[in-house]
Amino acid sequence: MLHYETKDLTTPEVHKLLLGGVAPRPIALVSTISKDGINNLSPFSFFNAFGANPPVVAFSPSRRGRDATLKDTYNNLIETQECVIQAVTHSMVEQISLASVEYSPDVDEFIKSGLTPIDSDLVKSKRVKESPFQMECKLLEMRSFGEGGAAANLAVCEVIKFHVAEDLFSNGIIDPIKIDLVARMSGDFYSRAGSGVFVVEKPIGKKCIGYDQVPKHIRDSEIYSANDLGKFGNSESMPSEDDVKLFIQKIVKEKFADFELGSEAFLRYQRLNEYKRMLKAALEMKENQKKNIELSVKCALNNNDMDFAWKAALFVKDVK
Ligand SMILES: Cc1cc2nc3c(=O)[nH]c(=O)nc-3n(C[C@H](O)[C@H](O)[C@H](O)COP(=O)(O)O)c2cc1C
Repeated sequence: MLHYETKDLTTPEVHKLLLGGVAPRPIALVSTISKDGINNLSPFSFFNAFGANPPVVAFSPSRRGRDATLKDTYNNLIETQECVIQAVTHSMVEQISLASVEYSPDVDEFIKSGLTPIDSDLVKSKRVKESPFQMECKLLEMRSFGEGGAAANLAVCEVIKFHVAEDLFSNGIIDPIKIDLVARMSGDFYSRAGSGVFVVEKPIGKKCIGYDQVPKHIRDSEIYSANDLGKFGNSESMPSEDDVKLFIQKIVKEKFADFELGSEAFLRYQRLNEYKRMLKAALEMKENQKKNIELSVKCALNNNDMDFAWKAALFVKDVK
């Protein structure tokens, strides 16, 4: 590990560390209007949501690193006490990058970026038509932390109206693939969030047994990863010895069509995620039995079949 005390680093060094380690960051595309009626549009990735009652979001239009001057977004927010924040989709990313160029305050960045302004309902700042998720906001508080270059100005805002495209939803939630958001990483790197989407079952409200209560022979396995063990720890209980016995008897008796034995067939079942066939084959093949059963468990875990995974994993205890 490298170890740094902040006092020994320059501001650009600190900035680079934050951009790399606090990532991926959602991007707020913030639209404000000056007191002279000029529209301003800029992206900010020091941004997040902090509560839902009332809905509070915050972002930081920092002081410019070069000369510590205040950005137009900051000045407009102080003057008008309002803004519109929109989510940034992959289809808009080049245009929002263009909106980050430092144009002078009399330049309308909607025109420069080619994004389309549309009227808001409750604030004067315009909404960005191309974004499928827009939030009309009132400034609650502006907190400044220092007056040097890159000093944070935390703009804490309350969302007073949401505009959301209806086609974003699947099963009552905003579908991460459909919304296709981008996030900011270090340097010039962005992340297309939908491409990395996966599911982790929420432990909320569950009395999970925890990592430490996963039986030792499972924790000691060389096949399971830390994430696999975390999944076991995320369960509320484990099956009894009798349940495990019955489960194994059932698999042994079960007749699968075109079932084959041998290491080649086992590999094929593994490729096809056929973990029940993997287990049946492992039980009948004597070589590498422990390892093969654990591979079937791993495959069941990948398919979120916790009942199978637990029973097969507990059975391994008595396998040599
Ligand atoms: C993706 C992206 C994220 C950015 N995030 C921030 C940020 O969190 N804070 C900030 O002060 N500037 C950020 N910037 C730079 C501002 O967008 C840039 O300084 C812009 O010119 C500010 O415009 P304004 O003076 O019109 O407010 C970011 C730029 C990009 C492209």
